Amino acid sequence: MSNHDIHCRFFSQEDLLAAGCLDVGMAMEAVEFGLRAFQEGDVLFPEKIVQIFNDETQERINCLPATFKGRKICGVKWVSVFPPNPVKYGLQNLSAVIILSEIENGFPIAFMEGTLCSNIRVGSVGAVAAKHLAKPDSRTIGFIGAGEQAKMHLIAMKTAVPSLETCRIAAKEGVEEDQFVTEMSAIIPTMQFEKAGSDLSKAASDADIIVTATSAQAPLLKAEWMKPGAFYSHVGGWEDEYAVAKQCDKIVCDDWETVKHRTQTLSRMYKDGELTDDNLYADLWEIVLGKKPGRENDDERIYFNAVGLAYLDVAIAIAMYDRGLETGLGQDLQIQHEMIFEHTRLKDWVRF
Ligand SMILES: NC(=O)c1ccc[n+]([C@@H]2O[C@H](COP(=O)([O-])OP(=O)(O)OC[C@H]3O[C@@H](n4cnc5c(N)ncnc54)[C@H](O)[C@@H]3O)[C@@H](O)[C@H]2O)c1
Repeated sequence: MSNHDIHCRFFSQEDLLAAGCLDVGMAMEAVEFGLRAFQEGDVLFPEKIVQIFNDETQERINCLPATFKGRKICGVKWVSVFPPNPVKYGLQNLSAVIILSEIENGFPIAFMEGTLCSNIRVGSVGAVAAKHLAKPDSRTIGFIGAGEQAKMHLIAMKTAVPSLETCRIAAKEGVEEDQFVTEMSAIIPTMQFEKAGSDLSKAASDADIIVTATSAQAPLLKAEWMKPGAFYSHVGGWEDEYAVAKQCDKIVCDDWETVKHRTQTLSRMYKDGELTDDNLYADLWEIVLGKKPGRENDDERIYFNAVGLAYLDVAIAIAMYDRGLETGLGQDLQIQHEMIFEHTRLKDWVRF
């Protein structure tokens, strides 16, 4: 073995799953750790780099780095978003890989599939919010949208609020509701599932927790469906009428400064002058760190919207890496054996 060997560990999605990384409890701890570390100034979080290949369809690849200085690990999520994929090719919209490097010598330590981490991040941030903002004895959860994010959100919400026992699901097509129930009842057999037959009001009305996770750009969720005491996790873009946020007692974001410059409902309301900074109750970290109380009574309607903080993806990826190493899964990837000019065969390989 040369002194200049560089190795890293490769984890496929299957390795990560087999290692037990689809563990929202673990991811929630990583999210809370990440939020705290960021506030303590322990996280380097530069601007993301966005490359858009088609303005109309928004096909893009983004590069999202972050460093946890205390853990001495720098990571980057390289994420592709190709919205036409599902309809045009029957392929997933989002795919990602993650690289982690140590920052003592700067060498890579892990290369891993990143879609799993990315989707778990969305769910586990919602779960951390639900832990503080949903009624702890919530029984019913209603979904509008039955895709990848909705499925992960159900696992996340059941982890954060174990009392959930009924899940109502409404999607654009009945076949998606069927698929959601088939897949999710195998994973959570104790949950009672009710298909709403695309009747959105049936899924959301009277639910203790409402989740919208759709690809729509329309005011699907109506204010009158959200009962007092309900917690609403908004995952997609424009999915609810403005009156939903207006009637909520608390509006919480992962990061309001980021949210207000995007395109989801709260961002639209802000741009339309229908919502101001004063209407925002808190960013999630303020509640997690105990700066502000979460839910204060059983009647509050609470609205949560996260746009995604990529340093939390890196925090979760580090937790997955630790668990992957513990289980011994994954494969060794040799990046180099020698430095370039140490290779004895370099004279045979060089081309002029
Ligand atoms: N907040 C975040 O950090 C974050 C991260 C990733 C994705 N997202 C967003 O989450 C949303 C869902 O993503 P996904 O991967 O689950 O998508 P998906 O394509 O797998 O599922 C979309 C769902 O939306 C439903 N839908 C679309 N129009 C509808 C309508 N009019 N009525 C009812 N249901 C309708 C579809 O039936 C489908 O079930 C997208 O908007 C995506 O951009 C958010």
